[in-house]
Amino acid sequence: MKLFIDTANTQEIRDAASIGVICGVTTNPTLVAKEGRDFSDVIQEIAEIVDGPISAEVMADDCNGMIAEARTLSKIHPNIVIKIPVTQEGLKAVHQLAKEGIRTNVTLIFSPSQALLAARAGASFVSPFVGRLNDISNDGITLIKTIADIFSLHNIKTEIIAASIRDPQSVVACAKAGAHIATLPYKVIQAMFVHPLTDAGIQKFKKDWNKK
Ligand code: G3P
Repeated sequence: MKLFIDTANTQEIRDAASIGVICGVTTNPTLVAKEGRDFSDVIQEIAEIVDGPISAEVMADDCNGMIAEARTLSKIHPNIVIKIPVTQEGLKAVHQLAKEGIRTNVTLIFSPSQALLAARAGASFVSPFVGRLNDISNDGITLIKTIADIFSLHNIKTEIIAASIRDPQSVVACAKAGAHIATLPYKVIQAMFVHPLTDAGIQKFKKDWNKK
């Protein structure tokens, strides 16, 4: 399973990229708004930091509006992937953009049937939201596993990006469930490093070394 970073904060992206663990970036309107910067400036700067898929979300509700936004965004850099919500208008746009060779990431997926529709419309990626399902006492990991099973059984090439990930345990569970990619907030990447025995081990090695 590959790892992307889920943020529009370019400092976080620089930090994660310097560790060498991420190969793509996802953003959403909430994350972009938090930065208070011009959208295309942010996307352009991200493209200079990471050489991999960068998801940028459209805001129109109708197919033609989404396509117009997508064409503009995709001109910023060849790595831009257009993030589109899983609505009927959204999937019409996905279908047209696929014909134009513009990659899409269908977002706000909460059921296997939505993922199947998105894949059949021509999505390059689907983004099931694990954390938001868990928040309402559903099982986000089961959703990932079901989609992965369906895609594998029917040889569907659309990649699954496990999104809305809040903790390291969920990252491991998504990897076991068959997600191709997990997109992670920077704080989750940092949390994945942490183990008390690692810290204790470093301290002990230091102490022993200094005794010699
Ligand atoms: O970008 C989509 C997703 O990762 C959002 O996560 O934590 O707002 O549910 P969250």
